Amino acid sequence: MPTAVLQTPPAPAAAEPVLVVDRLRAYYRTHAFGLDRDIRAVDDISLTVAPGEVYGIAGESSSGKTTLIKTIVGAIRPPLAVVGGSVRFRFGGEIRDIYALTPAELQTIRWRHLSCILQGSMNVLNPVRQIRHSFQDFAFPHMGLKPAAFWQAVRAHLARLDLDPAVLDSYPHQLSGGMRQRTTIALATVCTPEFIVADEPTTALDVIVQRDVLTMLRDIQRRLGSSFLFVTHDMSVHATVSDRVGIVYAGRLVEEAETPTLFRGALHPYTQHLVASLPRIGDTTRRASLPGRPPSLADPPSGCRFHPRCPLAMDVCREKVPALVEAAPRHRVACFAVSGAPS
Ligand SMILES: Nc1ncnc2c1ncn2[C@@H]1O[C@H](COP(=O)(O)OP(=O)(O)OP(=O)(O)O)[C@@H](O)[C@H]1O
Ligand code: SF4
Ligand SMILES: [Mg+2]
Repeated sequence: MPTAVLQTPPAPAAAEPVLVVDRLRAYYRTHAFGLDRDIRAVDDISLTVAPGEVYGIAGESSSGKTTLIKTIVGAIRPPLAVVGGSVRFRFGGEIRDIYALTPAELQTIRWRHLSCILQGSMNVLNPVRQIRHSFQDFAFPHMGLKPAAFWQAVRAHLARLDLDPAVLDSYPHQLSGGMRQRTTIALATVCTPEFIVADEPTTALDVIVQRDVLTMLRDIQRRLGSSFLFVTHDMSVHATVSDRVGIVYAGRLVEEAETPTLFRGALHPYTQHLVASLPRIGDTTRRASLPGRPPSLADPPSGCRFHPRCPLAMDVCREKVPALVEAAPRHRVACFAVSGAPS
């Protein structure tokens, strides 16, 4: 079992949070060649999201971003298992503990209150049926409208998103990648969700289409006043989209701050590297790459998981896990070089 770490709770936001994730742990419990193995993809993560806030999650490939998102929305299939912690949403003033819901309740919450645009979600569009059938199958049961009013609402939603309602009569293969992703987002948001979760919604798209899709998501989020949990490994996207960013490294949250603070005054050496490696207009100097490789989550490094790659690593970093503590108001960081080594 991993070492228990004391954490300071996140600073309270002005309003009651819509999402509270508390010390969440989710492992892939695998069995191969006669050996049981836990891949600790989410290991003791706590965060909150305020009403109307865009909370961004960043980190390199395989750091656990998708697993965190799946665990938060209750999309848990073996070998993934939640081994600790809780996830609570507040919808319409009512607290919903995501792991206490029946599958039917979870399904209703997912469409009515919580919209999920998961990694590769363009695949929810059935390739052999016209797009109208996806709206009919997924959204109609949750909107409580008669058919005529439902289709009117769908067309109005598509039009507001600058999508021609004719897409309803298309098959997915007839649309470009960008149109397919925009249609998927329209489908996921037609029920006017209070909370939107999007995992790498633009990664497979070219830069121009990416911008259109991000603008569309931001428009929906502003219009509905929804909260938004937004995953991308692309820090430049967070710079323009996210109000606050949490940095995940090897299954743990290592830093969290409001976006301008994070980009101007990152405290964790890993975040500093992510920010420093962003391209800058007119600057042709080579960006220094981070030495070493991302750690295995089946056998992560002891102490601070970043220590094998950290230029500031001290002896204590190999032995003890740095707690995520508030270094400044609304700025949490897990690093002994910031918080001081424990005595
Ligand atoms: N079904 C699975 N079974 C076993 N291990 C898995 C499974 N899915 C993911 N993993 C492992 O869990 C870890 C975290 O994966 P995850 O997909 O959450 O990372 P990520 O940060 O979303 O990566 P990316 O940026 O590439 O999308 C990785 O080590 C991955 O290999
Ligand atoms: S705790 Fe130590 S190893 Fe980890 S980031 Fe800070 S200085 Fe580096
Ligand atoms: Mg992912």
